[in-house]
Amino acid sequence: MKAIAVDQLHLFAVQALEKIGMCAQDARTVADALVTTDTFGVLSHGTKNLLGYIQKMQAGGLDAKAVPTVEKEGPAWALVNGNKAVGMVSASFAMQKAIEKAKVCGIAYVGVKNSCHFGAAGYYANMAAQEGMIGLAMSNTDPIMAVPGGCGVSIGSNPFSYAAPTGDGRSVFLDIALSNVAALKVIMAKEKGAQVPESWLVDEKGQPTSDSSTFPEHSCLSPMAMHKGYGLAVMVELLASVVTGAGLLGEVPSWNLKMEQPNGVGHAFIAIDIAQMLPADLFASRMKRLADELHGAPKADKVERIYLPGEMEWDKRDKALATNRLELTDVMAANMDKLSQMTGVAVPWLEA
Ligand SMILES: NC(=O)c1ccc[n+]([C@@H]2O[C@H](COP(=O)([O-])OP(=O)(O)OC[C@H]3O[C@@H](n4cnc5c(N)ncnc54)[C@H](O)[C@@H]3O)[C@@H](O)[C@H]2O)c1
Repeated sequence: MKAIAVDQLHLFAVQALEKIGMCAQDARTVADALVTTDTFGVLSHGTKNLLGYIQKMQAGGLDAKAVPTVEKEGPAWALVNGNKAVGMVSASFAMQKAIEKAKVCGIAYVGVKNSCHFGAAGYYANMAAQEGMIGLAMSNTDPIMAVPGGCGVSIGSNPFSYAAPTGDGRSVFLDIALSNVAALKVIMAKEKGAQVPESWLVDEKGQPTSDSSTFPEHSCLSPMAMHKGYGLAVMVELLASVVTGAGLLGEVPSWNLKMEQPNGVGHAFIAIDIAQMLPADLFASRMKRLADELHGAPKADKVERIYLPGEMEWDKRDKALATNRLELTDVMAANMDKLSQMTGVAVPWLEA
């Protein structure tokens, strides 16, 4: 286990991206999304994947210099072409646009096509929450999930997140794949040679399996709560792909197995400017009531604390920032060392 200071990890990510030709502003955008995700404790979707994104740029499946463009827009919506830019660049651009339009119209939708894996959906939903708005963020992915009654892959795990400000710098936010678990968490278990719960995977005959070594060649993800996760994954496919013109279902190749191919996924972002609908102090007091009532729910045996969605992540982030320290998994550390060799940027590991 190796550890690194949070600010040094951010600096490393920025410098590595600049070395491969990305402009300083985009490099900061990508580093912000990945390092924030790490501090939330979602290590499967943070800087672990920087090596993969950079390898994809070198293979031609991503363009480090691409600039997302607005292709069509109205007062409360826009359709963005990611132009093969890194997913975090297109997604941040689009959520920023949704926030700006919501400031005028109260609510705005921005869809994106020609993008790539954007990491954790929660980062973008929280961009809206930081502006005092409710944010929704979602993306389709390559088909990696079975549908109820089916066997084999049919639809993506289609991540979905919402975030709402709590008035104290935090947010209530849910950030989930619409499969029982995100694919990269199965990959992390596979890297450790660990079994996974049977509810995570189905084999080629559609039967539950705990054998992570079969993934993704001989097993696929199960939908979250069966028809419910499936139905929501279809909603994400509608908003992120059908409407935007992004790759639809089987048109999307795996971002990290087909490095030379553009990924072509789509995203959807919605921002709602609460301040136009009710006074900020009334919203804050109603959020507090929501939190207090849920925190005060009767607890099951041996349970010490009821959490709101996002609360565990904020606790982890506060700790990481207060100590300025993140512990990385062995695979993450190996990826960083490989990136260091590729780019010549040294990794400032902390003493053990
Ligand atoms: N970019 C992509 O293609 C892609 C695809 C799939 C998933 N993802 C990302 O993977 C990440 C992990 O997804 P996942 O489905 O494995 O997440 P998960 O199952 O770990 O759920 C995490 C969410 O559940 C909440 N939560 C967990 N326990 C809770 C409790 N006891 N009380 C209240 N809330 C609780 C957390 O606050 C968090 O919002 C997400 O960031 C998602 O965006 C990305």
